[in-house]
Amino acid sequence: MACGFDVITIFPGMVRAYLGESIIKRAIQGGLLDVGVHNLRDFTKDRHRTTDDYPYGGGSGMVMKVEPLHEALSALRQDGTPRLTVLLTPQGRAYTQQTAERFAADERRIVLICGRYEGIDERARELLVDEELSIGDYVLTGGELASLVIIDSVARLLPGVLGDAESAREESFTWGILDYPHYTRPPEFLGRTVPDVLLSGNHRDIAQWRRREALRRTLQRRPDLLEKADLTVEDKRFLRELCSDRTKSSGEDTDESYKGY
Ligand code: ADE
Repeated sequence: MACGFDVITIFPGMVRAYLGESIIKRAIQGGLLDVGVHNLRDFTKDRHRTTDDYPYGGGSGMVMKVEPLHEALSALRQDGTPRLTVLLTPQGRAYTQQTAERFAADERRIVLICGRYEGIDERARELLVDEELSIGDYVLTGGELASLVIIDSVARLLPGVLGDAESAREESFTWGILDYPHYTRPPEFLGRTVPDVLLSGNHRDIAQWRRREALRRTLQRRPDLLEKADLTVEDKRFLRELCSDRTKSSGEDTDESYKGY
């Protein structure tokens, strides 16, 4: 069965534009992914098709009204398909690769409500929404890009969506650490050469080099990821070595980041 999403937005064109290109387009055409894009204004009942209103209590910014959202979700529910309702908002819990994996395995259709304006009526959150998600600590003009980030990252996990050339590699990120460096031809560019090990043809050495470079990068750029990552005894030994090298070269006698590895 195809993985299904319903996007509720006041800018359906934005969402359709992205879905109509490249890998996602192919996944939809191939029946692996199904995305319904719904214009929230179609579920309003007034002449002006109003989806927002002034905040009670005053202040700047408009608030997304509860009734059109309730109408839209009731209309979707008519077909009896089980659904999980997600609101995209900077106030949500952090969306991660783990969330993408959970959604890819979920049998339910996932409804993505794209917030706009300053926020959404609290009663819509309470009554209509199962989960609130944020794609990062920055504020977008609306949830459309966030919903596309979710659809894209879930779609590429579905069997058959990525071709062999795109998916053959096991990505580091699925192990909870950053990716290793990649090289392709030419072997030398502006004096920079490709590491010898990658030209050696020794698959064990190549795998070890990649793993170590991935760990080195993660320690440098995202040490926070190492706390939750799936690390082997050998990984931890290598990280300890890196940390003690760092301590020696910086002349410190203790190194905080050594802890735990
Ligand atoms: N809407 C506005 N900013 C957002 C964010 N960072 N994540 C999800 N939805 C949003």
